Amino acid sequence: MPGLTWRSFIEELARTMLPQTVQQTFIEVYASNEDSGQSAHDRLNISQKTEEAHLKICYEKFQQELPRLAEKGGGGKKELLLEHLQRKFAGQQQSVAAIQSQRETPQQEPTESPAPVVGNLQSIQVRDSAEFFGRDLILREIHTKLQEQPRLALVGMGGVGKTEASVQYATAYTQHYPGGTWWLSVPQGNIGGQVLSITVQRFQNFPADVYRNLPPTDLAQRCWQEWYGKGRALVVLDDVAHIGEVQAFLPKPAELVVLLTSREALDLPLLRLDVLGPIPALQLLFSAMGKPVPKGETLEECLAEVTPKQVPALCQQMDCLPLALELIGKYLKQLEQDEEPLSIPQLILQLEGKGLRHGALKKENYLMNGQRGVAEAFELSWARLRDSAQRLAELLVPYQVGATIPHDLLEAHTQRYLQLRGQDYDHVMLREDIRNLRNRSLLKGNTNSGYSIHPLVHRFFKDKLEGKL
Ligand SMILES: Nc1ncnc2c1ncn2[C@@H]1O[C@H](COP(=O)(O)OP(=O)(O)OP(=O)(O)O)[C@@H](O)[C@H]1O
Ligand SMILES: [Mg+2]
Repeated sequence: MPGLTWRSFIEELARTMLPQTVQQTFIEVYASNEDSGQSAHDRLNISQKTEEAHLKICYEKFQQELPRLAEKGGGGKKELLLEHLQRKFAGQQQSVAAIQSQRETPQQEPTESPAPVVGNLQSIQVRDSAEFFGRDLILREIHTKLQEQPRLALVGMGGVGKTEASVQYATAYTQHYPGGTWWLSVPQGNIGGQVLSITVQRFQNFPADVYRNLPPTDLAQRCWQEWYGKGRALVVLDDVAHIGEVQAFLPKPAELVVLLTSREALDLPLLRLDVLGPIPALQLLFSAMGKPVPKGETLEECLAEVTPKQVPALCQQMDCLPLALELIGKYLKQLEQDEEPLSIPQLILQLEGKGLRHGALKKENYLMNGQRGVAEAFELSWARLRDSAQRLAELLVPYQVGATIPHDLLEAHTQRYLQLRGQDYDHVMLREDIRNLRNRSLLKGNTNSGYSIHPLVHRFFKDKLEGKL
């Protein structure tokens, strides 16, 4: 594959990814010399409208690997796609360079160190590892577990950092995956199409057009066949709502290692992700505020580096949940930039009053990878609870925040509540409701240890009970 040029790269992409009718426009827009003074449609002898219609088809095709294309208004799409293509090109050049350097060094057997395949992580935003806090052990655990079994679900409540941990794992451990590290976003849908898209990126001669019209799961399975025996690769399936939506798309557990993230306990080997410890929580908050990150090894050392002293109380109020800390930190930063700074004690008071309905905890565009607000993240799990489990959640509200609730007490409480309403109590159903809440990462504990709820989830249940959400 000597001399990969920008033009040959663009032509190859056009050939493998786009319908024939728009290929020429794509090539002309992205590969031709604009210095000629003529616009692409003039050079192609088509109208500007036709050029725009062709590009629209191209954007749709690239949306699978560049989701931000769907969000962007018409104006910036061309540039956004160009940047993406340039990153992709750089990645492939690295692969080509690696192959060439092997060829030029005859003492090296090419099969001993095959060219690294980059994967498609460039298409999503990856946080600098220096701003990723408190998860070293988890990354190592993910790696160990994936060595034992090539499938693992990273499970935890909304906003706890599942997506971020899996991105960071894929980035940090890339050298263990000579077949590349690949990212698929499940909520984006069209999983078959996404598998096709990464297969085409990985194997440029893959005859995509021959298989494009297969039913989606057959298409995915046909694509995976191409990967087997060609180097261990990591595939991340991010944000799986339930196993049913991805099961038939999974590759055979051979050389492809699959890491899934979900708020729900999937029927697979699991690794549960909990909120951050107090030190990384503090570090994340300061990093989001754009302030120097405390580096102390103990909480006391960290606290000596920061003011005001109420900061740990704010972290605690936010339950050390990464999503909440990041939103709060960015909110404070924004207010400071707007010259309307809010003190941390003031914010603590406001949050006590408004809880999850406070503007600071709502969805903000500046978060990474299409992140949600806190209530919005919890809502996704709430919507998948059965009715009786939602009712049980509301019964948990009178318990003190952070308290452990013994099983017997909860049982007696539920029984009394139902009897007062003339309904029968059924302990099997209670246990199923508890499981339902636990499987959706909204409740912790078991019959023996008793149960506990994260303070922010507690607040969410309370707002639900009071009809405020
Ligand atoms: N350890 C961490 N250090 C720094 N930032 C983090 C960390 N973990 C998560 N974040 C940030 O917190 C936010 C929420 O994390 P993430 O999107 O990974 O949560 P999630 O568990 O995938 O949520 P959801 O269930 O809604 O998909 C993101 O903006 C992410 O970048
Ligand atoms: Mg996520």
